[in-house]
Formats: sequence, C-alpha cells, structure tokens
Amino acid sequence: MRIGMIGCGNIGKSIINAIQNNIIECELVAILDKIPKNVPDLDSGGKSEVEVTAQFSKFLSCDFDLVIESASQQAVREYGIKILESKRDLMIMSTGALTDLDLFEEMKEIAKKNNLKIYLPSGAIAGVDGLKSAGVAHIDSVTITTKKNPMSLGVGMNAEIKAGRETTLYEGPAKEAVKRFPFNVNVAATLSLAGIGLEKTRVKVIADPSIEENIHQIHVIGDFGEFKTEVKNIPSPENPKTSYLAALSAIATLKKITEPIQIGT
Ligand SMILES: NC(=O)c1ccc[n+]([C@@H]2O[C@H](COP(=O)([O-])OP(=O)(O)OC[C@H]3O[C@@H](n4cnc5c(N)ncnc54)[C@H](O)[C@@H]3O)[C@@H](O)[C@H]2O)c1
Repeated sequence: MRIGMIGCGNIGKSIINAIQNNIIECELVAILDKIPKNVPDLDSGGKSEVEVTAQFSKFLSCDFDLVIESASQQAVREYGIKILESKRDLMIMSTGALTDLDLFEEMKEIAKKNNLKIYLPSGAIAGVDGLKSAGVAHIDSVTITTKKNPMSLGVGMNAEIKAGRETTLYEGPAKEAVKRFPFNVNVAATLSLAGIGLEKTRVKVIADPSIEENIHQIHVIGDFGEFKTEVKNIPSPENPKTSYLAALSAIATLKKITEPIQIGT
C-alpha cells in the first residue's frame, strides 16, 4: 500500500516510526505539512525519496492509494473531498470535523460513488468495537465521561476544585459538548458516529485535581445488555494534548488494512 500523509506532528511522526520499523507494511510516498520543517529527516531505505511539500496540488499529484490525515479539522474540511474525488481512500484522525454532518454525508456519498473507504480509528477511547456490535440491535444509551486535571482543561479554580474535589463542568448531549469543549471533540465525534449520533450520545466532563491522566469512561446500554470501558490515557511525550493511545490507534488501523486477518468488529 502506498501512503500519502497530511500533517506530520505527534501522530504523523509515530506513524512514520511504525513504517520505518516495519510494524506496518506500506510505502510512504508523500507528506503534506503547512510547516514542512516539522517533517523529520527520512531514511528512504533504498526506496525513492518521499515528497515533502506544503502545496496540496503537488501532494495530490503523487502516486498513493491511501491518505492519512493527522493534521487538523481544518485540513479535513480543506482537502477531504478533493482527496476522495481523486479516488484515494482516506483515514481521518481529526474526526471532530465530521460533526459537520453535511460534510460527513457528502464525503460518504463520494466514497460510495468511487468505491472508496473512509477509515475513522478509535483514537483515544476503547469500546468502539462493542458499540458497533451493539448498534446492530437497539441501543438505549451511550455516555462518555471525560475526567481531566483542571490545568489541562484550562478552567479556573472554583471552591470545589480548590478543595481537591471532582467537579462536573458539563452534562448533556454530545452536539453541545463538542462546541463547548474542543479538546473533547474527536472522541465525542467518533463515539457518536459509531453509535447513536451527536444528539443522543451523552457527554459528561469532570475536572479532577487528583489525576494526571486523561480518563475516558464509556457506558453503553442496549438490547445486548450493558458494557463499561475506562482508559487512563498517558499524554504523548511530544504533544501533551494528544493521548498516546490515539497515535497507536492510527498505527493499528493501518495494520488492520494491510493484514490478511481482520480481528475485532
Ligand atoms: N481521534 C482521536 O481520538 C484523536 C486523538 C488525538 C488527536 N487527534 C487529532 O489528530 C490531529 C493530529 O494530532 P497531533 O497530535 O499529531 O497534532 P500536532 O499538532 O502534533 O501535528 C499536526 C501537524 O499537522 C500540520 N497541519 C495542521 N493543519 C494543517 C493543514 N491544514 N495543512 C497541512 N498541514 C497541517 C501541522 O503543521 C503539524 O505539523 C489533530 O487534529 C488532533 O486533534 C485525534
């Protein structure tokens, strides 16, 4: 599989490492980054040079089958449709862009017409596989509770937080949460798209001064019964805003695409 990558920050660099260490069997052909100096020196390993550019037209003229977006929601809005129209599969990390349901539907239509795939990795959460299975029958409720240290939430110290207690900052539909808490937008978007949508998926955001990790708990109730997951995410060393599991999930999705045996829903 020949790959083009948009965005070479924390997640992009982790994917490059995985390709260079043969964890994923594919060839990196081109990288688009608005700051090309973010791209590390690449050892071509005897293969042809990787095209590194800040120009989308130059990037798109390269010969690849799949584009990995690991840049920003802006990049999805700017390039997503053009990539699909050029008949390339697309993997999206900035899934928050797809809370614009018109954009989501348009991309889905083009992918269907051109017989392409759009991959949305699970990212920083666990339970997307179970949620997809549950969705084949009826789902009653999906709730994600995100707990973070108030410092990483960027919120002021009220009396509760100062006293070291957990404080609920928001409880309501994902549709509103993605507007009020941009840091949560990707996980809320992925979960909503995999399950019962932005209006029905519930989000709870809690500031907890006693924790360092970013915690995501998911609770799903449906015809199948009930499940709960909890991930305590360690921030990536290079970008504390990105959970390490999100970068690993991008790599695992690429492995799934390239390997003959598909495990998991
Ligand atoms: N799905 C999830 O659970 C999940 C988890 C973590 C991060 N993310 C998202 O994945 C994306 C990448 O995360 P990261 O930690 O690697 O970010 P990062 O800030 O470390 O790197 C982003 C890179 O993309 C480049 N870039 C940004 N916008 C661009 C554009 N329009 N055109 C070209 N290049 C552009 C930047 O110059 C930078 O080099 C972010 O949008 C982030 O919110 C998703």
